[in-house]
Amino acid sequence: MGNTLGPSVSASAGGKVILLGEHAVVYGSGAIAVGLDQGAHAEVRETPVAELVLGERRYVLGPEPDPAPAARAFAALLESLGTVGIAAEARLEIPAGAGLGASAALGVALARAVRELLRRSTGRVPAIAPAALAWENVFHGNASGVDTAAAEYGGCLAFRRGTEPRALHPGRPLELVVALVEPGASTRHMVEGVAARRAAERAGIDSLLDSIGALVERAGACIALGDNAQLGQLMSENHERLVALGVSTPRLDQACRWALEAGALGAKLTGAGGGGCAVALVEADRRAAVLEAWTGRALRCWEKRSE
Ligand code: MEV
Repeated sequence: MGNTLGPSVSASAGGKVILLGEHAVVYGSGAIAVGLDQGAHAEVRETPVAELVLGERRYVLGPEPDPAPAARAFAALLESLGTVGIAAEARLEIPAGAGLGASAALGVALARAVRELLRRSTGRVPAIAPAALAWENVFHGNASGVDTAAAEYGGCLAFRRGTEPRALHPGRPLELVVALVEPGASTRHMVEGVAARRAAERAGIDSLLDSIGALVERAGACIALGDNAQLGQLMSENHERLVALGVSTPRLDQACRWALEAGALGAKLTGAGGGGCAVALVEADRRAAVLEAWTGRALRCWEKRSE
C-alpha cells in the first residue's frame, strides 16, 4: 500500500455454492445457498488518495476516474459506506469467475474491513449489504444479492430478492463436494443471455424459471426435515432445468454424471454456469468416492459440511 497512513484493519468473507435456484432468483424466485469457509481477505487503512490493490493490479482512485470495473466497484463500495480516503489490499482464496461467489466475497471482506475502520475512527457503523451489492453490481449488472448475502451470513441460507435472508437449519448435516470443472464464463454475460432468451420466448422461459422456484420451495422443506436423498434428487432436477435454460456445458453435465455414478445423492452446476463449478450432495460414506471420481479426473475440489 503506497500512500498509506494509520493502522490497518483486516477482514475476511467466504464464497458460496448455490444448492438450488440460480438464475430464477434474479426474477424473484427463492434460492438456497451454503457459505464456504474459503473466500477473500482484505486489509484497509485511511489514506489521502484511495486505492485498491487486487492481486497484481493497483487501481488508484485519483481525480481522473479509472474506467476499470474493479476501480469503479471500489468507488461504489466506498460511496455506499460514506467514505473516500481508503487504501485497500485484497486477495482471493477461491478461483474468480467460477461460480463460487469470489467477487461477492471480495466485496463483503472489503466492506467489513472499511466498516470496522470507520467504527474505530468515527463510531459510525454503516450497513455491509448495500455496499457489497454496489460493488457486485458493477461486475454483474443485475445481481440478485444471493452471493453477497451468502458471503455476509455464511451457513445455509434461504434467499429471495428484496427480503431478509433466512438461516436454514439442516435436519441432517449437508455433506457437499465442489469441483472446478472448467474455466467459468462471466456472470453478467450468462445473466444477460437468460434475459435475451426470456425476451425472445417469454412464456417458455418463465415457466422454466417458475419450475426452478418450485424445486427451491420443496428443497427448503427437505433441508428442514433432513431428507437429503430427496434434496439430492431436487438438485439433479434443478440441473436439468439449467440445461434447458441453456446455461450448462457438456463438461458440467459430464462432471454431474461422474458424481452420480460415484454415488452422490444429487449433482448440479452451481452459480451462473457456462463453465465453472459443480456441486454434489453426498452421504458421508460416499464422500471419498465422489471426491475420487472428480480428483481422479484432475478436477480441483473443495469439501463443505453445513449443519
Ligand atoms: C450467481 O451466483 C447467481 C445468479 O443467479 C446471478 C444472481 O443471482 O445475481 C446467476
